Amino acid sequence: MDLLAAGAVPYPRGDDWVRGVSRSLKVLITGGAGFIGSTVASACIDAGIEPVIIDDLSTGREEFADGRALYRGDIGDPALVDRVVAEHPDISIVIHCAARIVVPDSVRGPLEYYEANVGKTIELLRSLRRNGIHRVIFSSSASVYDAEDGGAVTEDAPLAPSSPYARTKAMVEQILSDSAAAGELRAIALRYFNPIGADPRARSGLQHRDPSHALGVLISAYRRGGTFTITGADWPTRDGSGLRDFIHVWDLARAHVRAVERFDAVTEADPFQVINLGGGTGTTVRELVSAFERVTGGSVDVTVGGRRPGDVAGAYADAGRAADVLDWRAELTIDDGIRDSLAWAERFDPRS
Ligand SMILES: NC(=O)c1ccc[n+]([C@@H]2O[C@H](COP(=O)([O-])OP(=O)(O)OC[C@H]3O[C@@H](n4cnc5c(N)ncnc54)[C@H](O)[C@@H]3O)[C@@H](O)[C@H]2O)c1
Repeated sequence: MDLLAAGAVPYPRGDDWVRGVSRSLKVLITGGAGFIGSTVASACIDAGIEPVIIDDLSTGREEFADGRALYRGDIGDPALVDRVVAEHPDISIVIHCAARIVVPDSVRGPLEYYEANVGKTIELLRSLRRNGIHRVIFSSSASVYDAEDGGAVTEDAPLAPSSPYARTKAMVEQILSDSAAAGELRAIALRYFNPIGADPRARSGLQHRDPSHALGVLISAYRRGGTFTITGADWPTRDGSGLRDFIHVWDLARAHVRAVERFDAVTEADPFQVINLGGGTGTTVRELVSAFERVTGGSVDVTVGGRRPGDVAGAYADAGRAADVLDWRAELTIDDGIRDSLAWAERFDPRS
């Protein structure tokens, strides 16, 4: 069933403790002032879905929520969630993007990461249950997979999260799965691969300083006139460099709109669903450099270094389930992602 077409949809077991989904959809987006959450909010607005945002602005930017209902505060604050729902009783779905996301920080401070990403999510889920909101879309990550061999991964591939950050994602998935089995909620975990780019209308983009992913490092090297180091050229991939599945953040955001619109149908048979969001083809780091040079028309000074501790060959998404259940596939290319990332980096000053 398509929620938008369906009008008021009661929760399937007929229970009246779950609010229905009204024709004018309203979603709560946690972390909606961050890179991905703000882009999801923009895609929702463009699709006629109204976002309400909770963000503590720890890494998010107030201006990314301009013109949107923004509640500044913590997802783990029950009084705040109660107030948001009291003021927006027609919220029917939560898109839970809020998290701490820096892998090395999670290695140095695991307790803080488990508290921020797992502990506060449990508190949020309690608050949502108390307020009768039982539909959750969760920002998960491809970092939960074992990505040793540079191949495609389906949603059923073995999990081997290799950092505390990645383990927080796997744990929240488990919590959602158990809660769904207990009939407490329904959930869709969207496992993002490697988001790049920015909102094509430049409403928001990446706000983190010195991003450590390959494209961020490449852009920094290009702008400084420095050298880009390929870390490892002996991986089991087609050209020996590591492999990623870059996904334009706008494509990612559009997939959330589909997940909102189709939520009840997608979770009908199984109340907990996992869906990969990737381009479905891998790009090696060398291919990324070639694409970068194609887009910029310039050349990048490249050197080959050794593997870094903890690195893996990488993996790309088998994106078949997203096509089947969300009728979604990535449409923007790696060149689009590089172009939009560069355009955003030109206009955004992370020190401002
Ligand atoms: N960026 C990626 O490469 C990537 C890849 C896979 C999954 N994800 C997931 O996507 C989600 C969004 O990531 P992002 O890249 O937009 O990061 P981000 O740091 O830009 O966004 C996170 C947002 O959550 C807010 N936040 C953090 N803790 C909060 C709390 N306790 N209460 C309220 N707000 C809080 C921050 O202020 C920020 O606006 C995260 O859950 C992340 O794990 C990101």
